[in-house]
Amino acid sequence: MAVDGVSLQVERESVTGLIGPNGSGKTTLFNLIAGLLKADNGKILLGNSDITGLAPHEVFRKGIYRTFQSPQIVPNLSVLENMLLANSLRAGERLFESILRRRTWRSQETKLIEKAYEYLRFLNLDEYANETPSVLSGGQLKLLEIGRAFMSEAPILLLDEPAAGVNPTLARKIFDFLEHLRRERGVTIFVIEHKVDVVFERTDHVFVMNKGRLLFSGTPQEVAANQSVIDAYLGE
Ligand SMILES: Nc1ncnc2c1ncn2[C@@H]1O[C@H](COP(=O)(O)OP(=O)(O)OP(=O)(O)O)[C@@H](O)[C@H]1O
Ligand SMILES: [Mg+2]
Repeated sequence: MAVDGVSLQVERESVTGLIGPNGSGKTTLFNLIAGLLKADNGKILLGNSDITGLAPHEVFRKGIYRTFQSPQIVPNLSVLENMLLANSLRAGERLFESILRRRTWRSQETKLIEKAYEYLRFLNLDEYANETPSVLSGGQLKLLEIGRAFMSEAPILLLDEPAAGVNPTLARKIFDFLEHLRRERGVTIFVIEHKVDVVFERTDHVFVMNKGRLLFSGTPQEVAANQSVIDAYLGE
């Protein structure tokens, strides 16, 4: 069983970490929340609303955007176009709007492109904006995946190892930016990350999974000091 009796609550407007050894069920938990897998049992609540069993696009519509551990990039679109995919408010794609309100969607698209460039600059990807994603390294693809999450403007982000394959300086920069999104825009962030030093520095609360179960939950300090966590995870 990949996820077994895990009960946890992510606080609104928090940056909450999820850690645990390889194969402990972290990604599977995200897949359950995001609707890619159906739970045999249990409930997933968003505030008071029951989102158990919703399809991925319905979960997205509820405001939850998730990134993938292996980046899901569209290979035949440019880096910039991949960024633009994430935004659901693109009036130009609706027939009525595109014909009758050309100016509105033009200015919307211009704003989106400016925003995409801003994030690409932040992630050191701006020079590749018009290239195909095939020129990007594994780490850069991860950055593009997270850039799209920022573009989505979703109030809740589930990030599956956003800083894997990324250098430590940029990893900290990404986590600083998560903190910024939380503080300035009230975004709620649930983030899986193997770089525990960054997690311990940059999250409010940490859940630890081991073998499909919730092993421990607490502040970064509590988690770092907990012997069962050290045994299961840090000491491996
Ligand atoms: N579709 C599947 N079918 C069968 N087993 C699966 C499936 N998906 C995941 N598993 C298994 O479930 C367990 C949990 O996997 P999961 O990917 O959730 O772990 P994880 O904590 O995200 O690990 P990692 O840190 O390596 O990403 C693993 O043993 C994995 O092999
Ligand atoms: Mg995983």
